[in-house]
Amino acid sequence: MSAPNKSYDPVEVETLKPEEIERMRDEALAAFAAADSLDALHEAKVAQTGPTSPLALANREIGALPPHAKAEAGKRVGQARGAVNKALAARQVELEAERDARVLVEEAVDVTLPYDRVPSGARHPLTTMMERVADVFVAMGYEVAEGPEAEAEWFNFDALNFLPDHPARQMQDTFFVQGPKGTDESGSGVVLRTHTSPVQARALLDRELPVYIVCPGRVFRTDELDATHTPVFHQIELLAVDEGLTMADLKGTLDHMVQALFGADMKTRLRPNFFPFTEPSAEMDMLCYVCKGESIGNPDRPCRTCSSEGWIELGGCGMVNPRVLTACGVDPEKYSGFAFGFGIERMLMFRHNVEDMRDMVEGDVRFTRPFGMEI
Ligand code: PHE
Repeated sequence: MSAPNKSYDPVEVETLKPEEIERMRDEALAAFAAADSLDALHEAKVAQTGPTSPLALANREIGALPPHAKAEAGKRVGQARGAVNKALAARQVELEAERDARVLVEEAVDVTLPYDRVPSGARHPLTTMMERVADVFVAMGYEVAEGPEAEAEWFNFDALNFLPDHPARQMQDTFFVQGPKGTDESGSGVVLRTHTSPVQARALLDRELPVYIVCPGRVFRTDELDATHTPVFHQIELLAVDEGLTMADLKGTLDHMVQALFGADMKTRLRPNFFPFTEPSAEMDMLCYVCKGESIGNPDRPCRTCSSEGWIELGGCGMVNPRVLTACGVDPEKYSGFAFGFGIERMLMFRHNVEDMRDMVEGDVRFTRPFGMEI
């Protein structure tokens, strides 16, 4: 700082001359205009407005002026600094706007890009098929019922009117977990259920009448795994027990199911058969959904799906045997019912032309992928 001086005059003092102040101001404005980034502007701000900037130094000179000169010099420097600060703020706003616009472009996220390169898993076609069938009945008011896979021999056989010497009880058909009956001290064996029909007995014992249930589930038989057999497979069981149910209700229900699954012009037919737990019992066939029966006796139009038989065998059905109702505490004089059951693997095979059952159990995604990623 210069020493006080009587003759000190802003016009005389080099740094306070009007042209000098103007030059400092213009230099600052030019520096801000030249700053092309917020960082550069910050540097220019320190250089042009900081404590060692030319204008700040000039400001300090004012204190040393004689009183009469202070006001004028102060006004001049003050105006210059005001203009500089205003320009700085304006440039700051400009550069921030530029930066924001750039960030919006540079850091934009393309939400249309695929978000998952690792393919997500899909449900097995057997599962989706089972649910599709179950849905047909849920839509009619049936409830989904379940039972254990390791089942008491009594539920799997006795309650269903299998006599003690029925061949299906023999070890070659059934996986025994405990037993068979009579060979252990409890007197009743435990089996891997050979069909979903034990759920019929469980539902009748557990629920209030009337009973309308559908039961999808896994079942087990001592078959070797080959193109048309698997020791673990899936069935869907249906049971309706109410007052006044007849075989006509069974037939109507079956027709509705195949129409819902295979098309409005589908129908079913029943062929006499025997099951211990239904009486009368029938084998149920559905019209071949590919040739609609037109391949029968028509060598010009052979059908691979039904081997030109016109019909495809679905499974078993019948009116619930009164003995089963009695075993489950239901009065057969008052109530009647119908039931059916069929294999899902078979349905998947003919519905999708799957030729080898092993494909369904091996877990190769090349098999499941074409069925889509239905969740
Ligand atoms: N449980 C029988 C089977 O596995 C199918 C069936 C179910 C038959 C219900 C009649 C009634 O072959």
